[in-house]
Amino acid sequence: MAAVLILLTFLLLLGADAEEIIGGHEVKPHSRPYMAFIKFVKDDGKNYRCGGFLVRENFVLTAAHCMGSAMSVTLGAHNISFPEETQQIIPVAKAFPHPGFNNKTFPNDIMLLKLERKALKTEYVRPFSLPRSNVHVKPGDVCHVAGWGMLALKGKLPDILQEVELTVQKDQECEFCFRRRYNKATAICVGDPKIKRASFLGDSGGPLVCKNRAAGIVSLACNDGSAPGTYTRVSSFLSWIQKIIKRS
Ligand SMILES: *[C@@H]1O[C@H](CO)[C@@H](O)[C@H](O)[C@H]1NC(C)=O
Ligand SMILES: *[C@@H]1O[C@H](CO)[C@@H](O)[C@H](O)[C@H]1NC(C)=O
Repeated sequence: MAAVLILLTFLLLLGADAEEIIGGHEVKPHSRPYMAFIKFVKDDGKNYRCGGFLVRENFVLTAAHCMGSAMSVTLGAHNISFPEETQQIIPVAKAFPHPGFNNKTFPNDIMLLKLERKALKTEYVRPFSLPRSNVHVKPGDVCHVAGWGMLALKGKLPDILQEVELTVQKDQECEFCFRRRYNKATAICVGDPKIKRASFLGDSGGPLVCKNRAAGIVSLACNDGSAPGTYTRVSSFLSWIQKIIKRS
């Protein structure tokens, strides 16, 4: 079980036999101008991908398990395999994984990336709103998640940004799935176990969008890319986010 979780979270080999968002569809080009495609190299020397989203002109928010070296961020992309004129590729100057994150149980799976330069705001590249601290998502809320992650378990990585609609679940669903390591204060349980839809390898770090704000960050899937999954509860980290942005 632990091995499966780690495998799942530990993202996508670029070009490996993998899948993307499961049960979703292509997004309308550039309808999510905050989306960031993150490339990085892990200790094994291989390339991986994650999602993320622009929160300031020079800061991207993603998951802490998307940490690596030679990190770069592509903004304004639709087809990630093609050098579109709308794209801005910016190296990461510094990564700030949450100090409470660890590789074993993945608590506080959140990380800020400071970009080497400010992104140019365009029709295709725009920061996204963080959630308000006093507005909480509830079971039954319908949200969506977008990413360039795998489309199926034995699928392949898509070129085009995909999205899927997912329903927020009761915390109990994830307590069961994650053997009580799920912490409802810092995570959101998302994805109806009866419906075959989920975020998957390579979607990690992307935003869970509820009521047009980034309520969550894709963290871990329960098993084999099925629902539910645990998403970092962004509203629990607002003061940490503001502190890092202000300090640097
Ligand atoms: C994306 O770009 C690649 C590289 O040019 C191309 O082969 C592929 O067909 C494109 N995908 C779509 C769906 O247009
Ligand atoms: C996670 O594990 C990798 C080695 O597998 C290590 O390089 C990295 O620093 C660890 N990250 C954290 C935040 O513990």
